[in-house]
Parts: sequence; structure tokens; C-alpha cells
Amino acid sequence: MKINTICCLGAGYVGGPTMALIAAKCPHLKVIVADLNERRIAAWNSDTLPVYEPDLDKVVAEARGRNLHFTTDIRGAIVEAEMVFVSVGTPTKSYGIGAGRAADLCYIESAARTIAEVSQGHKIIVEKSTIPVKTASAIKTILEANSSPSATFEVLSNPEFLAEGTAIEDLEDPDRILIGGENTPGGHLAVEALASIYANWVPRERIITTNLWSSELSKIVANAFLSQRISSINSISALCEATGADVKEVARAIGMDQRIGPRFLRASVGFGGSCFQKDLLNLVYLCESFHLPEVAEYWSQVVKINDWQKSRFVGRIVRTLFNTVTNKRIAVLGFAFKKDTNDTRETAAINVCRDLLRERARIAVYDPQVTADGIRQELLAAGVEPALLDSHLEICPDAYAASEGAHALAVLTEWDEFAALDFPRIHTLMVKPAFVFDGRAILPHDELQVLGFECFTIGKGL
Ligand code: NAD
Ligand code: UGA
Repeated sequence: MKINTICCLGAGYVGGPTMALIAAKCPHLKVIVADLNERRIAAWNSDTLPVYEPDLDKVVAEARGRNLHFTTDIRGAIVEAEMVFVSVGTPTKSYGIGAGRAADLCYIESAARTIAEVSQGHKIIVEKSTIPVKTASAIKTILEANSSPSATFEVLSNPEFLAEGTAIEDLEDPDRILIGGENTPGGHLAVEALASIYANWVPRERIITTNLWSSELSKIVANAFLSQRISSINSISALCEATGADVKEVARAIGMDQRIGPRFLRASVGFGGSCFQKDLLNLVYLCESFHLPEVAEYWSQVVKINDWQKSRFVGRIVRTLFNTVTNKRIAVLGFAFKKDTNDTRETAAINVCRDLLRERARIAVYDPQVTADGIRQELLAAGVEPALLDSHLEICPDAYAASEGAHALAVLTEWDEFAALDFPRIHTLMVKPAFVFDGRAILPHDELQVLGFECFTIGKGL
């Protein structure tokens, strides 16, 4: 099947970068990215992209206007494309059955209904969003029940494994591309059509094909295993702090065992991001739905340890600052859920700042990429009263402004620039004793101690 035009519904952190890279690697393909959100599309068409990712601007600049187009004309995009990617959000459901655990599939369903409404002829529908196992079957039912008789569909699962902050690198050189399809002649043709797009830059042996359900489930399981490693090392960070061991040394020692491997063993103030917790909760819900309570309980522990790690960090700050932070200024360095992104969804910084504000601390936040409005909105959504934000939250233009008059400095995101700050200057600016709480274990602790800082490091202690 010859594909000339593809479109993607959803111009978010996945849809935008993924389609931009496909357009850059496949100049012969027309790539249309469509979204309901007019502001987002306007930003994709401007010099200030809505997503911050290293090198994303270069990839967009190469293809935009040539074979990459951003639009709000969703119907027009679907009509023109032979292959439609669905990359809309699948957040945790906040209401009704499964609230707080199940994935909210309302955006997926609405995308499927729009596709059905306007389609003629044959189209391949590609699930790019992370969805519960068996969603392809629901999509197919909606498509077939609502489309014109001339329309036919093949539904594929093609989950995305990119991580934010390294999206372009991950898309250019993926560990694998996973494509799930039906075991029918039409399914095989559709899988091959999609595989041949990736084959423009990904070696064939890294493009793996499976059945639909294995593909859908593999995505959630990959995120579950990755987040489990972080909760595992974070649980050990508490034991290290209690015993005098150093979690970095433990991670290094165990990571050299090839069966364990060195990656994803960085203890932190807790994992964040839009997906780990959402996908874990969804896995727990799936297991419960399939009457597997022991499996559900096993995976729910990964979320519990993560929540505990975030509140443990706040407890440590309050205890160390002589059991009161009331009206003490605390410089918070980093609000994004990891470095090299402006994304704040589920960032550990939300919990830490919220809980410190509830203790009536005065918070001075600096993040190189997150906007003041973004920080305020996250804290409002987390239930912090607007009056408390007005009186106790300050957003600062740099780490030095945040440190001025601060009793403590807390590192919540591992931005590279934080390890290279002028610490003698910061020490001078701060109230003494000057406390540092390094929630990412990235600062030069020996230098800090010589300068007179009181230093707490996650997984190492005071
Ligand atoms: P996002 O919220 O950044 O973007 C989703 C976009 O979809 C929004 O801009 C929204 O306006 C748009 N949208 C909603 N309904 C629409 C419709 N009917 N038609 C057109 N547009 C519509 O979300 P994201 O971070 O890009 O994630 C998308 C999916 O990819 C999720 O399922 C997520 O789990 C998965 N995923 C995300 C990442 C990541 O790093 N963020 C990585 C892998 C997978
Ligand atoms: C994660 C996965 O890594 C991607 O493969 C997946 O596609 C994506 O989720 C998704 O489905 O959304 P992402 O959340 O963007 O990617 O970023 P990660 O690098 O995985 O980091 C997630 C969180 O874990 C961050 O808060 C990070 O700081 C934290 N982390 C990561 C640690 O605390 N320690 C580590 O060793 C690694």
C-alpha cells in the first residue's frame, strides 16, 4: 500500500516531535499535524515552539512548510491522509468508574468518531497514544459503526518510547520500533506500510512486529519496569541515609552486574512526568479488572514508594530546619519533572512546593525553562490557596535571586547549570547556617562543605 500523506491527531509532546522527525527523514511524505488547540498550533507555526526539546527547533525548521504542516483543520487532515496517527492525551480518569486509576479514553473515542465521520476509502489508523490493552478493538468498533459504507480501516498499535529531554535523540536512534497489527492479510499489509516509513532511517532488525494486544501491553509494562527501578533505588536511598551508605556507590556497584545494568538507577526526590504514574495506575486498574489483586498490589507499591519519597524529602527539610519553616525562605532550584524539558506534569516539585507552602515556608522558585504562570497553575491545581501563593510564592529569574535571604536551597531538577553555580556567592547571599537539600545528588558536595554549607543529599544523608 503506497502512503503519500500521513496525519497525526494531537500536536503535543509526542505528536509534534514524532511527526517533525518523520517529516525530516521522509521528504517524500506529506505530514500534517492537527490539533483542536488553536494556541498550540499557532505556537508550532511560530519561532517559539510549544514544546522545549534540544534540537527540536532545527528539525522543525528543516521540514516545516516543505512537507510538515501544523493545522487546526482536523477533518481536512484526515480526509487527505492514507494513514492517521492518534496521539491525543490519555490522562488518568478523574471521575466516575475507575476514577484515579483507569485511563480516560474520551479523547481517543472522540478522535475515532471524527475519523469515522469524514473517512472514505481505505485508511490505516495508528494508535500512538498509550492506551489500555484491547483499546484497538474499541476503536475498530467505533470506526466500523459510524463510517460510510465505502470506508474501510486497519488499526495498528505503534506505541512511542521517547523520553522528554532526549526526544529527538530517541526518535532518531530508537532501541526499537514496535508495531502491533491483526494477523490477517490486511493487517500484514498495514504493518508493512508503517514499517516501511520507519525503515527510511531505522534498521529493519530494530522494527519488531507483534499482535495488537502484546504491543499495547508492552508499552505500559515498559513504563512500569522503568519506574519500578526508580522506586527500588529510591527505597534503598532511605536505607542508605539511615546507615551511612551512599546510594550512588550502591547503584554503581549493582549496575556493573550486566544482568542489572547501570541505567535508571539515579535516586531522586521522586519520579514525575505525565506517564509513569498514569501508566502504573492504569496497569493496577487493568489487573484488578482481570481479577488479579496480587499483581495489582505489587505494582501499586511502585507508586506508593514514589509518593513516600516526595513527602520524605519535605519532612527532612522541615526537621533539619529546626522543625519549623514558617516564613523561612527556601530557594527551589528546578520545577520541571526532569532536565531539558519545560514539562511540569506530575513533577515532584509540585508536591514538595505544595507541602512546604502548607508549612508556611516562603518559596522562591527558579527553573530555566518553566514559566511563572506554569508554576502557579500547577500549584493552584494541586490545591494551594491563591492567597498563599500571592503571599508566599516568588518566581525568580535565576538561582542567585532565589538564594538571596534564603535559609535553605533545595534542588528538585537536575539541570546541568545547577552543578556549576557560583557557590561562594550563593553562600554569601544566604542566611546562616546555609542549608542545601540536594534532591538529585548533582551538586559538588565537597566544595559546598568547605564553603560552610550544611548539605543533605538524597541517598547519602547529612
Ligand atoms: P499532550 O497532552 O501534550 O498532547 C495531546 C494533544 O492532543 C493536545 O494538544 C490536545 O489538544 C490534542 N487533542 C485532544 N483530542 C484531540 C482530537 N480529537 N483531535 C486532535 N487533537 C486532539 O500529550 P502527550 O504528552 O503528547 O501524550 C500523548 C500520548 O502519548 C499519551 O497517551 C501519552 O501517554 C503518550 N506518550 C507520551 C510521552 C511523553 O513523553 N509525553 C511518551 C510516550 C507516550
Ligand atoms: C518515560 C520513559 O523513559 C519513556 O520511554 C516513555 O516513552 C515515556 O516515559 C512515556 O511513556 O511518557 P519520560 O517520563 O519523558 O520518559 O522521562 P524519563 O527519563 O523516563 O524520566 C521520568 C522521571 O523519572 C523523571 O522525573 C526523572 O527525573 C526520573 N528518573 C529517571 C529518576 O528519578 N531516576 C532515574 O534514574 C531516571
